Amino acid sequence: MMDEKQKLQEIIDLGFEIRQVQDLDLLLEHILTKARRFTNADAGSIYMVEKDRLTFKCNQNDTLQAKLAPGKKLIYSSFTVPIDTHSISGSVASSGEMLNIPDVYEIPPGAPYSFDRHYDELSQYRTHSMLTIPLKTTAGKVVGVLQLINARAADGAVVPFAREDEPLIVYFANNAATSIERAQMTRALLLRMIGMAELRDPKETGAHVNRVASYSVEIYEVWANTRCVACTQVDRNKDILRMAAMLHDVGKVAISDTILKKPAKLDEAEYAVMKQHTFLGARLFSDLYSDFDEAAYQVALNHHERWDGKGYPGHINPHTGKAVQGYENSDGSPRPKKGEEIPPFGRVVAIADVYDALSSRRAYKEPWSEDRVLENLRSEAGKQFDPDMIEAFFESLDVIRSIEKRYPEG
Ligand code: C2E
Ligand code: SIN
Ligand code: SIN
Ligand code: SIN
Ligand code: FE
Ligand code: FE
Repeated sequence: MMDEKQKLQEIIDLGFEIRQVQDLDLLLEHILTKARRFTNADAGSIYMVEKDRLTFKCNQNDTLQAKLAPGKKLIYSSFTVPIDTHSISGSVASSGEMLNIPDVYEIPPGAPYSFDRHYDELSQYRTHSMLTIPLKTTAGKVVGVLQLINARAADGAVVPFAREDEPLIVYFANNAATSIERAQMTRALLLRMIGMAELRDPKETGAHVNRVASYSVEIYEVWANTRCVACTQVDRNKDILRMAAMLHDVGKVAISDTILKKPAKLDEAEYAVMKQHTFLGARLFSDLYSDFDEAAYQVALNHHERWDGKGYPGHINPHTGKAVQGYENSDGSPRPKKGEEIPPFGRVVAIADVYDALSSRRAYKEPWSEDRVLENLRSEAGKQFDPDMIEAFFESLDVIRSIEKRYPEG
């Protein structure tokens, strides 16, 4: 049996592994782009094994993309197929062998699989050649399927995929599968880490974490869309923000139980220790290896900053716990962050966190009535909170109430 201390150490050690994290969605896009470039494929997709089916995850199509206005995204709906021999992707996933088909409209009658022209009809696209490769780890586990569509010759004509490319693309797919498996493991580890952080304080349930994450995403989306801050990025940012917001208080794993679980108001010294949960959490992500690390870092570090510059921890270096060089007050303490010095993800989670904290019971306080909570948020616009984001919060209030219902107190 691991004792409490060992468990804590284990969680903190996970920080090392989290530095390896590659956001899974980004990784899939990257793999598909690389594989298409290598085979000069006009289009392609990735299917991932989820439970006993394949889920369509990732889609690229140069021809269809060229018909869209600049900056627009290719819209596709996700669907699943069984892992059996009826579909091409299902066959490849179940056999673990690649299929190189010169023309999917001319599949020999003896083949167990067929091509479903339905998707071509929907998208007004003609699929000819198709190279479908299992994403198989070196240990032989199929994590998904990579499907490349319509290889093009130098003159642009659609041609079959070259036989001589096959061994290299299989090699590439093996490496890709290994990276995917690692990203999946890291994501699972993150979820376990959230679970363990919750275990520290039974009052901080999964419902809390999910609510703060969902509120944050909702407010962020409304805010970003009205300002059109890099609109094409909003959807991607939502995924990253959700995970990062779930971890906003992960630094509390390093705070002692006597402070964390104190059923009364903290004294000044205790509160000073408690405030460290911001930069202690940020430390876990400080290598900024992926977009996810960057977001988790910003959220953990900045979710208690205030718009008016009276929050904490200010311009601090998470590793030293001291002021960032050039940002010292005369007494050496970190200069406060204010306004847009505070990264947007920090500003948005601040609102979601306080809304949830005020609405909930805590060891040290009763839940507030909704009127009182909303009155507090409104009056803190421009003081504690970014006023534009408070506006976005009130615009999203209906959705926020529905989220509250979706994740009730356990
Ligand atoms: P938390 O409980 O998740 O609270 C998050 C934030 O919500 C707080 O950040 C604060 O801005 C706001 N908040 C929570 N309760 C109240 C309240 O009754 N009145 C007002 N005006 N705002 C409230 P803060 O203050 O930096 O606290 C960070 C964390 O420190 C809290 O997270 C909680 O875990 C702990 N904490 C703060 N004060 C106390 C306390 O008096 N006793 C105990 N046991 N823990 C406390
Ligand atoms: C596939 O199954 O791999 C391609 C989609 C289809 O067959 O319609
Ligand atoms: C959490 O979101 O980590 C639990 C509730 C809270 O402390 O904000
Ligand atoms: C504190 O200052 O101890 C907590 C902040 C608050 O609950 O208002
Ligand atoms: Fe916090
Ligand atoms: Fe919190």
